[in-house]
Amino acid sequence: MGDTVISETQITYITTSDEETISLGQRLGALLSEGDVVALVGELGSGKTWFTKGLALGLGVSPDTIVTSPSFTLVNEYKGRYTFYHMDFYRLENLPEVLSAGLEEYLHDSGVVALEWADRWPEILPDKRVMVKFLIIDDRRREITLSGYDPRALEIIEDLEEEGTD
Ligand SMILES: Nc1ncnc2c1ncn2[C@@H]1O[C@H](COP(=O)(O)OP(=O)(O)OP(=O)(O)O)[C@@H](O)[C@H]1O
Ligand SMILES: [Mg+2]
Repeated sequence: MGDTVISETQITYITTSDEETISLGQRLGALLSEGDVVALVGELGSGKTWFTKGLALGLGVSPDTIVTSPSFTLVNEYKGRYTFYHMDFYRLENLPEVLSAGLEEYLHDSGVVALEWADRWPEILPDKRVMVKFLIIDDRRREITLSGYDPRALEIIEDLEEEGTD
């Protein structure tokens, strides 16, 4: 009986350069730990990969490491404070392909996962994911909204919020 109340929290930032997007990603990355999942959503060229570069930095991956979207490998793996897995659903055709490649397992594994084009098959995203949506405002500006409803996601987003902006 009664309605299910899902309380979602969200916070929006505007970045005005690649560097600002990286540094926002870095601040988020610094708050992540084993088992966290970051679901990245937004059109082509909206900043998902730059943000992921920041996540890697925040997770202690060497700044010399080049972060690009995985293509043939499907998953890029980086060593930082935790193992950091970077996946991208853009080139995948259908959910059976995702499942047969074993990609869903990363979402429930140890380590930290960032996933581009995470809205293609939202049904496989774990509840604990922090959703990050990117909107292109113009050439240089991106609107970046973080949201979540699971207690772990709320904790991460509130921690980020408490730090305030630079
Ligand atoms: N404020 C900004 N933040 C991030 N990138 C920006 C910003 N302003 C301009 N850009 C440009 O937008 C592009 C973002 O590229 P990026 O590869 O991160 O996008 P993406 O969302 O991963 O795209 P794709 O869906 O193709 O993987 C880069 O060319 C970058 O220079
Ligand atoms: Mg990308």
